[in-house]
Amino acid sequence: KTVKAFAPATVANVSCGFDILGFAIEGMGDIVQLNEKESPGLEVSSISGDDGKLPLDAAKNTCAVAIQAMVEDLGINPGISIQLEKGLPLGSGMGSSAASAVAALIAANEFLSSPYEKKDLLPFAIAAEKIACGAGHADNVAPSLLGGFVLIRDYHPLDVIKLNVPQDLYCTLLHPHFELKTADSRSVLREAIPLKHATIQSGNVAGLIAGLYEEDYELISRSLRDVIAEPYRAVLIPGFYEVREAVKGAGALGMGISGSGPTLFCLSKGKEKAIQIAKAAEEVYQSIGLGVDVY
Ligand code: HSE
Repeated sequence: KTVKAFAPATVANVSCGFDILGFAIEGMGDIVQLNEKESPGLEVSSISGDDGKLPLDAAKNTCAVAIQAMVEDLGINPGISIQLEKGLPLGSGMGSSAASAVAALIAANEFLSSPYEKKDLLPFAIAAEKIACGAGHADNVAPSLLGGFVLIRDYHPLDVIKLNVPQDLYCTLLHPHFELKTADSRSVLREAIPLKHATIQSGNVAGLIAGLYEEDYELISRSLRDVIAEPYRAVLIPGFYEVREAVKGAGALGMGISGSGPTLFCLSKGKEKAIQIAKAAEEVYQSIGLGVDVY
């Protein structure tokens, strides 16, 4: 028996929604193939597209950890061999580990004749994120699994809500050529948030969600602001403020760090703007001598 599944890249946080907002990107992602094997237990038989960087050890591999959580919940121990094809760069902030875990879970659910509804796979994906990034955040796995724009209203118990996506909303991704591990990028954050920052941040989350439903691009633009994580993380990303100036000049509604970075995301109204934004950003990266991939 063989089953194959794909899961997409995602942008987490979306500026103001630290650990609670994310959206899926069309087209790019990871593929997981599962094959039946005779002896019980999970094994990772191959990984491609990772330059040999990811662990084959089933206790450390995101795909295996996710499937292990699932089979333990079911109280079974099937023999499954896992093949992972990475389409996403590691440590990029594009939800690379989440896409692997989600593709593995979709494949495993089908492999085991669909014991779970899609949404019920989330806790297993979160368990895998804990191993991959040191934190069980759901703002990559939830949109990777459910598609579109997703809000995690609460973690205990998990309450995940799919949001409206305005027709003309486009995203440009700028992926500079260096790796930033989520665990490192989380370690620079502060535990305590001043009350005035909590007020600003909640106003913007509410504004962004209202903007998505009203399809009010100006409101979305005003709400793309982050006073909790961005000030501490921007310093880890060369050119952050210069790129922001340039993409705003090119018509971006806003720019922020995609998840924990170093990829930056820009939102725009319409495809034409998204292309202009990419060009403007590439010029800045070129001027500071940093290679970049643009999607
Ligand atoms: N919300 C997570 C963070 C996303 O910002 O650390 C990681 O991709």
